[in-house]
Amino acid sequence: MRIDLISLFPEFVAQCAGFGVVGRAQERGLLSIHGWNPRDYAEGNYRRVDDRPFGGGPGMVMMIDPLRAAIRAARAADPAPARLIYLSPQGRPLTQSIVRELAGRERLLLLCGRYEGVDERLVAGEVDEELSIGDYVLSGGELAAAVVIDAVARLQDGVLNDADSAAQDSFEADGLLDCPHYTRPVEHALGAVPEVLLSGNHAEIARWRRRQSLLRTRERRPDLLAAAGLGPEERRWLDA
Ligand code: ADE
Repeated sequence: MRIDLISLFPEFVAQCAGFGVVGRAQERGLLSIHGWNPRDYAEGNYRRVDDRPFGGGPGMVMMIDPLRAAIRAARAADPAPARLIYLSPQGRPLTQSIVRELAGRERLLLLCGRYEGVDERLVAGEVDEELSIGDYVLSGGELAAAVVIDAVARLQDGVLNDADSAAQDSFEADGLLDCPHYTRPVEHALGAVPEVLLSGNHAEIARWRRRQSLLRTRERRPDLLAAAGLGPEERRWLDA
């Protein structure tokens, strides 16, 4: 997958994406990230990329032309088409199912805003999708882009080892929260590992994990339970 990033701080996102699973994906050639800085496309001695908002008020607004030139350069760098995704608090809330859909694309073009945002005419005229990573305001879209890149990268074929397989993660398959996990030592001052996990009985272990997922989801995110298709035994666990 190729990811092009329009940002005033592309190095910041590249740093975030340089570690762990995403770093490994880049090393193996499964993912490439290309930064495009609108400042490189701005005119004048000051290479200005922002200006005061019409109508007054605090903050600055990112200007259309430097952004547009950076977007155009990014698009021209590769023949694969890409929809332009703008990261902003006004966007559609990101979910694992959106991540899965993005992960299937050949190329992503991510636009990060700063300050009060970007001139609305650019959003209306150039942006295909707007995504938010949650109901809080960041000082720019870069961390949101890093979140999207991480979530999408780990779903690329060949990125995860068996050991960190994505299939059992929270929100995967049935939309439930993940079950608890334990490793050595078996006995610890903070408690013992649940007996069933040491039993070697894989069917019982799977049942236990499923039950834990359900109980945890009911306790922490009951909103997610409604969408999960539950069998009769699972319903009984929740009724007990
Ligand atoms: N930029 C600023 N805040 C953001 C958020 N919550 N999600 C995506 N981009 C943002």
